[in-house]
Amino acid sequence: RIAGPSGLVIFGVTGDLSRKKLMPAVYDLANRGLLPPGFSLVGFARRDWEHEDFAQVVHDAVKEHSRTPFREEVWQQLAEGMRFVPGVFDDDEAFATLKSTIEELDKSRGTGGNFAFYLSVPPKFFPTVVAQLEKHGLNRGEGESWRRAVIEKPFGHDLASAQELNRTVHGVFRASEVFRIDHYLGKETVQNILALRFANTMFEPLWNRSYVDHVQITMAEDIGIGGRAGYYDGIGAARDVIQNHLLQLLALTAMEEPSSFDAKALVAEKLKVLNAVQLPKDLARHTVRGQYAAGWQGGKKVPGYLDEEGIDPQSVTDTYAAIKLGIDNRRWAGVPFYLRTGKRLGRRVTEIAVVFQRAPHSPFGATDTQELGQNALVIRVQPDEGVTIRFGSKVPGTQMEIRDVTMDFAYGESFTESSPEAYERLILDVLLGDANLFPRHQEVERSWEILDPVERHWARSGRPEQYPAGTWGPGAADEMLARDGRSWRRP
Ligand code: BG6
Repeated sequence: RIAGPSGLVIFGVTGDLSRKKLMPAVYDLANRGLLPPGFSLVGFARRDWEHEDFAQVVHDAVKEHSRTPFREEVWQQLAEGMRFVPGVFDDDEAFATLKSTIEELDKSRGTGGNFAFYLSVPPKFFPTVVAQLEKHGLNRGEGESWRRAVIEKPFGHDLASAQELNRTVHGVFRASEVFRIDHYLGKETVQNILALRFANTMFEPLWNRSYVDHVQITMAEDIGIGGRAGYYDGIGAARDVIQNHLLQLLALTAMEEPSSFDAKALVAEKLKVLNAVQLPKDLARHTVRGQYAAGWQGGKKVPGYLDEEGIDPQSVTDTYAAIKLGIDNRRWAGVPFYLRTGKRLGRRVTEIAVVFQRAPHSPFGATDTQELGQNALVIRVQPDEGVTIRFGSKVPGTQMEIRDVTMDFAYGESFTESSPEAYERLILDVLLGDANLFPRHQEVERSWEILDPVERHWARSGRPEQYPAGTWGPGAADEMLARDGRSWRRP
């Protein structure tokens, strides 16, 4: 899987994402020999830069953030194909320059007219950039060559805005030319959910309402909102990650087996299960939002959300969100899926825990099984990638006492191969035209449809509950599960 002749244009190339993820990913791909020799990278942004200034910025980003070792010869080859186009998004002259830059690269680097346009820009600019690409004829290549649009989240902030965006983008690019990034799908451990379920026989027979008690999907972060106040305030945790990453994790965990591992079959199954997702009737009882207050993290005092730079001191934005969902189908009827996410929590961890029912009958006495929890299969998405199975085992000794033990699979122990960074995988897939790991517009819209009533409910319900930074979120989240006779795992 090596990309053919091609180039990548990044709009918003001076942003954080580009510096920390996109540029390093491009270099890592080149370093692994997965890019064609003439691969070209074009930056577009409002800066007074020459090509050399841009190359220097990429160089620094690569040195700081790339995964693979720095190799001068790889860098040199890549740097020769770097160009910078200064301009604002409604500037016709800049887009004319972009066009001539692409033509020049086709001649000098042999990019063959194949270009992906990566919109790493705030969503309010999507329509302008897309319209400019069309106006300047950049959305269509000549002959056999391809043009693709890569769109970063957030893809809208509710169903209506997402539909509007989809209309705009589809007016200019064909559906098969649009790649929406959900970088969680680029993670090895997320792709492994389907391998675990469908390449094996031992899990799937248990993967249903007859054996599963409930499922917990946790995405906890220890970081605060850092320098992202402008994006985050007014958006909040649920729109930021539940609408996309967590609902995608739910879909992969709960979907039926696709008829094949191609984009069409995958999207059909994901969509089917997302369509079966139901919100509980009483949102006040089954959803929780919180906002971090000052607290301690890693031995350091950290400020509360309202004291972060750039945040409205009256903000009611959620930095923590928990939602209970049901799936109305034969496999999952009656099995709750609890989703939670938050910033400034105890530690950074993303995991999917499939928690099994208790044994219907136990020949052991209550005292023998005091320390026995429910069986669980935990897909550890990050940081400690792997899978854990928890089950009861007899404690060695002359008594019959049963206690929980775990069986672990860790990527680091089982494989010598290293995982590519999510963005590496996804950028390569864009260049290859492989759409498996990209949500389609129907999924995005359906996910908003699930979340919208929750957001409307929260908008009417006053302030989110505060939780001290470094803890596991608001007390109401624990109460939400306690009412169901369950509790959150402490990962
Ligand atoms: C992004 C969110 O999509 O995912 C961020 O916008 C979040 O708020 C990030 O921090 C987490 O990504 P990862 O890969 O570090 O889990």
